[in-house]
Amino acid sequence: MMRRREFIQAGPAALLVNDALGPFSLEKEGALSAFPPGFVWGVSSSALQIEGALDEDGRGPSIWDQTKGGDPPRGPEPAAGHYHRWPDDILLLQNLGVAAYRFSVAWPRVLPEGAGTVNQKGLDFYDRLVDGLLSAGLTPWVCLHHWDLPAPLQKAGGWIGRETADRFLEYVLVVAGCIGDRIHHWIPLNEPNVVSYGGYGVGVYPPGHMNEEFFFDSVHHQNLAQGLALKALAGRDRFVGSVLSISPVRPASSRPQDIAAAELHDLIYHRAFLDPLLGHGYPEALALRMAPLVRPGDLEVIAHRPDFLGLNYYGPTYRQAWPGAPFSNDGNVTPAHVPMTSENSPIDSQGLFEVLCNIRDRYGRPPVVITENGLPGSDVVGTDGRIDDDERIRFLRSHLLAVEKALTAGCDLRGYFVWSFLDSWEWTWGYDQRFGLVYVDFDTGARIPKSSFGWYRSVSRSNQVRP
Ligand code: FCB
Repeated sequence: MMRRREFIQAGPAALLVNDALGPFSLEKEGALSAFPPGFVWGVSSSALQIEGALDEDGRGPSIWDQTKGGDPPRGPEPAAGHYHRWPDDILLLQNLGVAAYRFSVAWPRVLPEGAGTVNQKGLDFYDRLVDGLLSAGLTPWVCLHHWDLPAPLQKAGGWIGRETADRFLEYVLVVAGCIGDRIHHWIPLNEPNVVSYGGYGVGVYPPGHMNEEFFFDSVHHQNLAQGLALKALAGRDRFVGSVLSISPVRPASSRPQDIAAAELHDLIYHRAFLDPLLGHGYPEALALRMAPLVRPGDLEVIAHRPDFLGLNYYGPTYRQAWPGAPFSNDGNVTPAHVPMTSENSPIDSQGLFEVLCNIRDRYGRPPVVITENGLPGSDVVGTDGRIDDDERIRFLRSHLLAVEKALTAGCDLRGYFVWSFLDSWEWTWGYDQRFGLVYVDFDTGARIPKSSFGWYRSVSRSNQVRP
């Protein structure tokens, strides 16, 4: 299996955070404030990446449980041990001063078989967590499925099968029946486009299929699952949104074939999800491909308009023409001049401004929340016990400047969530890439807030991007 994100961005590594918006200069920029009142500041996490306790209290297996990543390769146990340390984590969140915390519910904890018998102990965990967050003054934003599909459902075909959409709706209703009286913010699926591309198109993520037909099956069935959930969760006091990973797709050169490759990638990675969700049906170029999958009424289900579009942004993708494209990793070539993160993904805050403007123009200015944005690193504890992650501060700051610019350009932006609250198990990167505002010692579970924690606290408290 390839290392995380290598499949979308491969290129030379050089950790540079001065990007398209220019170098960060304290004197030049000062404090800024274009964020409207009520703009939501938050942090994100996901169940499998922080909880651990995989075999406790009746949880069933997920398709990611056996994946090991990093050096040495390690799996999602113990992660950050959050299943037991959640009360301390709530204190940390309170200290951080954010208004909102986005986490995910683990489907395999609630329905160990994926369907059928409910595991009450699993549900109780989230029930307690929600109460704890609320009494600490935090607003929970609940994502219902962040990649950890119950293994028995994968055995039955996973997202290749249409039935998985029905199973998902059943699960959503179970969770909503338990915590729905207190939850106003919901996200049915995290990044179905990454699940389809990584898991069914290029096979670098579980279930590891590299199959064009399965890819399109999984696109349609996740779109359907999301539409069913959007409808079931909708309500007057509800804010329900879909979350996709969105990056500007750029041709690796000005050659016409590279331009075509970039357009094709954008089509299958973004538009196959966004167009039908936002009421345009499948793009014409995909209509024939999707036709055998689409039953009467499906497009209406899929187009259940979300209250917001959640956007996870890390950086742009560069594509070049390549045999097997778009279902081939080899077409990802980042030009040498582009600054890169420690895990080889391009850094470009201007790209965030670009995608926000594209969404505004293409889809009629939907409300948008940035549900993930962050920088990985191999942070270490200094001899003074501090973790100085100035590069992360610069990264976040430059991206928030792009958000401000987009607000000024008329984009309807409602909130911003940092990925991530805690250092986490990062899928095929294992524990090697730390994204947290809080450092986690994965051997002892100890937590240490990094410099970025204090910086983000002042941002969220003042509603200003402070230097
Ligand atoms: C996103 C995932 C999230 C995390 C970040 C780095 O694609 O949604 O779980 O791994 O990437």
